[in-house]
Amino acid sequence: MWRLHRHAVPIPGGAAAAAVSSAGHYAVNACLAPLCSLHLVAVTTVEGIGSVARKLHPVQERIARSHGSQCGFCTPGIVMSMYALLRNNPTPNMADVEEAFQGNLCRCTGYRPILEGYKTFTVKGGCCGGKGQNGCCMTNGNGAFQGSKDKPEEATSLFNTADFEPYDPTQEVIFPPELMNLSKGQRSSRSLCFHGDRTTWLQPESLDELLLLKWKHPDARLVVGNTEVGIEVKFKNMVYPVVLAPGFIAELNAVTHTEDGVVFGAACTLSHMGAVLKEAVQSLPPHQTQVFQAILEQLRWFAGQQIRNVAAIGGNIMTASPISDLNPVFMAAGCKLTLRDKDGSREVQMDDGFFTGYRKTTVRPQEILLSILIPYSKKCQFVSAFKQSPRREDDISIVTAAISAIFSPGTDVVKDLRLSYGGMAPVTVLAKKTANRLLGRQWGEELLQEACSSLAEEMSLDPSAPGGMVRYRQTLTLSLFYKFYLTVLQKLRLQGLSVQEVSSECLSATEIYHPETPSSVQVYQAVPEGQNQDDMVGCPIMHLSALKQATGEAVYCDDVPLYENELYLALITSTKAHARILSVDVSVAERCPGVVCCLFASDVPGSNVTGVRQDETVFADGQVTCVGHIIGAVVADSQLHAQRAAKAVRIQYEELKPIVTIQEAIAAQSFYEPIRTIQNGDLEAGFKQADHILEGEIHMGGQEHFYLETNVTLAVPREEDGEMELFISSQSPSDSQSFVAKALGVPANRVLVRVKRMGGGFGGKESRTTVLSTVVAVAANRLKRPVRCMLDRDEDMLITGGRHPFYGKYKVGFLQSGKVVALDVSFYSNSGNSMDLSQAIMERALFHMENSYRIPNVRGQGFMCRTNLPSNTAFRGFGGPQGMMVAENWITDVAHSLGHSPEEVRRLNLYLEGESTPYNQILHGLTLDRCWDECLSRSEYEQRRAAADLFNRQNRWTKQGLAIVPTKFGISFTATFLNQAGALVHIYRDGSVLLTHGGTEMGQGLHTKMVQVASRVLGIPCSKVFISETSTNTVANTSPTAASASTDLNGAAVQNACEILLKRLEPFKTKNPKGSWEDWVNAAYFDRVNLSANGFYKTPDLGYDFDTNSGRAFNYYSYGVACSEVEIDCLTGAHKNLRTTIVMDVGHSLNPAIDIGQVEGGFMQGLGLFTLEELHYSPQGVLLTRGPGSYKIPAFGDIPTQLTVSLLRDAPNEKAIFASKAVGEPPLFLAASVFYAIKDAVRAARAESQMMGPFRLDSPASAERIRNACCDRFTKLCPPAEPGTFTPWSVRV
Ligand SMILES: Cc1cc2nc3c(=O)[nH]c(=O)nc-3n(C[C@H](O)[C@H](O)[C@H](O)COP(=O)(O)OP(=O)(O)OC[C@H]3O[C@@H](n4cnc5c(N)ncnc54)[C@H](O)[C@@H]3O)c2cc1C
Ligand code: FES
Repeated sequence: MWRLHRHAVPIPGGAAAAAVSSAGHYAVNACLAPLCSLHLVAVTTVEGIGSVARKLHPVQERIARSHGSQCGFCTPGIVMSMYALLRNNPTPNMADVEEAFQGNLCRCTGYRPILEGYKTFTVKGGCCGGKGQNGCCMTNGNGAFQGSKDKPEEATSLFNTADFEPYDPTQEVIFPPELMNLSKGQRSSRSLCFHGDRTTWLQPESLDELLLLKWKHPDARLVVGNTEVGIEVKFKNMVYPVVLAPGFIAELNAVTHTEDGVVFGAACTLSHMGAVLKEAVQSLPPHQTQVFQAILEQLRWFAGQQIRNVAAIGGNIMTASPISDLNPVFMAAGCKLTLRDKDGSREVQMDDGFFTGYRKTTVRPQEILLSILIPYSKKCQFVSAFKQSPRREDDISIVTAAISAIFSPGTDVVKDLRLSYGGMAPVTVLAKKTANRLLGRQWGEELLQEACSSLAEEMSLDPSAPGGMVRYRQTLTLSLFYKFYLTVLQKLRLQGLSVQEVSSECLSATEIYHPETPSSVQVYQAVPEGQNQDDMVGCPIMHLSALKQATGEAVYCDDVPLYENELYLALITSTKAHARILSVDVSVAERCPGVVCCLFASDVPGSNVTGVRQDETVFADGQVTCVGHIIGAVVADSQLHAQRAAKAVRIQYEELKPIVTIQEAIAAQSFYEPIRTIQNGDLEAGFKQADHILEGEIHMGGQEHFYLETNVTLAVPREEDGEMELFISSQSPSDSQSFVAKALGVPANRVLVRVKRMGGGFGGKESRTTVLSTVVAVAANRLKRPVRCMLDRDEDMLITGGRHPFYGKYKVGFLQSGKVVALDVSFYSNSGNSMDLSQAIMERALFHMENSYRIPNVRGQGFMCRTNLPSNTAFRGFGGPQGMMVAENWITDVAHSLGHSPEEVRRLNLYLEGESTPYNQILHGLTLDRCWDECLSRSEYEQRRAAADLFNRQNRWTKQGLAIVPTKFGISFTATFLNQAGALVHIYRDGSVLLTHGGTEMGQGLHTKMVQVASRVLGIPCSKVFISETSTNTVANTSPTAASASTDLNGAAVQNACEILLKRLEPFKTKNPKGSWEDWVNAAYFDRVNLSANGFYKTPDLGYDFDTNSGRAFNYYSYGVACSEVEIDCLTGAHKNLRTTIVMDVGHSLNPAIDIGQVEGGFMQGLGLFTLEELHYSPQGVLLTRGPGSYKIPAFGDIPTQLTVSLLRDAPNEKAIFASKAVGEPPLFLAASVFYAIKDAVRAARAESQMMGPFRLDSPASAERIRNACCDRFTKLCPPAEPGTFTPWSVRV
């Protein structure tokens, strides 16, 4: 889905569903737009609006120059959303821009630079038009790369608007006149019929024809936006032989204003409905538009614009989803539906009789939904709608509600009440019993109490209910009613009725969330005056591929053109977590169209044994140990055929008991060896010395990498000597090479692995890419034809594992002052069904168990749980964040138990220069204290704390929280041998330089930095240096691009190679000092000097030994501190990220734009980890969250409203290239400041219920966890079911 999303298309002329008379532009999701629906529609893709060679469109140029494209895989989609916005509105404001991006995701950038770049198109953020104080910004620049007057060496701008081409809307491509003529002519109303393999698409010309067709094909689906049917076909394997497309039928698109309300044709899009209702709200008296306003409120958070542009009202109603956002409003408002078949129409009320079961309605098969009447509200009527979802924007509801109350005129006596809830049953429900009980009652505290106890009873859920979060959902029904109750109290009072006044501290519970436009500051050290113009080290230059990424010209693995004879592969995977395979039946699959062959373990010519620890198989051999375990593969002539056939393979299993969770593994003592320990000091003496001892625990969920480009391999067999060329999206070309060679039974020198760029990696493509590449290579080898496979998002999520979930248990001894003197901590990681990198990850967790705090007596133990989940693997931070998270938990507990502020206790325990870690490494060049102090002052911590405390005293149902959290991240691979790198540099006769090194480009800007390094060493401009790709035949035995160390390692190798070349050129420079680079190169060539050189680097003095607790584990440390401030809604658990200030020590930054990009991107990924992203597994080990619909990564709206990133100045690092420091992973943990700010806010909420002292909050701090932790009168009415008395829908793994 997301691969295609790169090319999201705005469609001028009206999408299939929109009968808009004037031509318009709509951004849509390419993956959901059926080709047949594009009749009379012009499609523009990112390639159509500009190119690097021709001319860039300003939307392409600005995202690139503002550093809004890292891996670039999301960039075309974002470009096209912005393009569509500008086509409709050339002078948008920032709110328009934010709305346009509601349906776009980026995993790399942290969104800030994208918004910053596109702000330049907005009315406020755009060109000053020559009115700026110092002339026009477009000609003078905005101070980019320069320091301010006060601090000339401090720079705050990462790009220069003077570089931007002005935007001229008159130069846009026009809507094709031929289509315009056609759409005006009779052909638009002609019936159309498209026959496909399995589906016939019929577009009737009139309502009568539609009704006849529906009569003839009662099982046919009507498809308008395809946003529901598309998902059913793709992910639920539904087949609809006949599809009817009513998009062009006038009656279904009509909007009629009647005496009772507005009637919308069922095919009206949600965007269109929103526009009509907005207009009505502006023109009609407020009392008449209560229902409209409630609908508009729901639409604000309904999917993204790309969906709303095509999805129809009828589609939402007829899908009959229990979590539909509109159906509760339609039911509460008493909307009327007109249904029609060929014999006539009937009207039905949308009430609890309409939905008859899960996704079922009373509409008969031959009928269609013609229209819906949305009524005006009455004088004494109040309507509100609420939606609670894990993420605010573009997410499906957990609970959605709409409540309508009508009062007897002039009184507060309830005459009619409708409480409608979604997410509480298989259908949208009306809480009728509760409503009836409240009829005739006065709107006051008694009614509230009655309503809550009645709702708690009526809206009860089975503890095993699908969707889980049972207690939370029940509590929400009460909390949302309470919000409505307060809102109505206010409104009644405004009408002059003597109802109880809403106290000021409760007022915030009635506020409707409106996002504020984010603002940001970036601070870094400017390059010293006098630095050579050609020397770009230290300058914020753009990612070298950014422009190509923004135009769609950048080539990713799956963009490699099809080879003649190429085949496609689909995987056959296990549906059981633990089982013996009894039989595999491929008879049906082999008969499927296009199938060439099926492959299993016996087809592997070399060794079927594979994996980092040689404890895996290429194909399962007799047993499966996780859902998603690769059993076999089907190769066919196309992706569709291969995937269909793979689904037709029948496998019989004998099920064995799986171990799914960490707790189950502990109970069964199912651990991998070794159990690692780091111990220092005297633990017993430490605990004796302590004034207090406390014990605690925390569970931290895993995380899906969600790189936008899923795993992909193209294997091309060569005709001779068993050679195989592979194009892979991998962080480890050399590992891929050796794994493939082993599976094929050939020496590594026959396997060439090439990596151009990745659409994101984050550790997920370090070792797990080989599960796919070995299979594809085996297929290509067997068939002697090129074979390709790119995993679908759901397959990728199912098969390739993610960040290890961790459970930490600790005992901590501390003095009355808060000084920690003893710590005994145990870590348990859910490693899954193979070792993979789990040991190194656990070791890194142990190396980070004290985070930034000096603990004199300490013991940490690490247990790797062997479970029946797909093997978990590397993920940015590599166990470090898990280790540090547990540390931050005990330090918070210490503070809470003493009644001290956590920041005081943190500061007290911070390491000092020269102190030693539990693994006996002395800390030199420590900058923690500087980062801490700068963060405190930049964040204005004291003032913010006082303001938050005041806010909390003044507000009962919203609470603010603050936390300041440090990080210390060790740099080096902990496996010593990996700390090496190579580079190969060729200088050609024309002076151009081809650079290759062992690192791969995944968006992090490594190639850009390497070019900067080569350019400085050789003394030539960056433009003369080129990197084409990473390949195993240019640099051999590469270490994975991982551990944040790639710039350090490869940069030093590049430096080494360039210095060798420079030395060889030295005589020619001396001979001709005034000559040019080209002159020297030419002279050297004619003098038969070798202009190619190999560079190499290994990090010196490394080698930690666990047995003796000695030797250096890390080359150095990267430090940082972040302060975050949040606000939680205690009634719903939703939170807002108000402010974050980050101070990060990256040494002398090689490229501040790239480094700040890594800080912000890492921070946002951490924000997802600690507050949002949740993988749900069934008790049987089935992953239930397998796509963007159910697994939520942070979106544009999640960035802190104020974000400040400052790179610590004057902090050179003597241990790495040009005094820089590693930056890829260290900032991720700083997002824990948001988690602990949330915990701080929850603490304030609990204090209202007199609940003091330490409490447990597991990660992520989801809305559910926040709400459940804020114990109050509503949660008390919804007690949790006794554990062990039921089978939950999902388990915490
Ligand atoms: C990314 C994404 C985000 C989403 N977010 C939300 C959300 O926030 N809230 C929410 O409630 N939903 C959401 N949805 C669900 C979906 O977008 C809505 O239900 C949408 O309104 C469906 O409209 P459609 O035109 O695309 O339906 P289609 O897929 O075209 O049709 C859906 C069903 O309705 C039937 N149907 C359509 N019109 C008629 C008619 N006139 N008469 C009889 N049957 C008819 C079709 O036969 C089909 O069974 C989301 C979907 C996606 C893919
Ligand atoms: S740049 Fe957005 S996903 Fe990589």
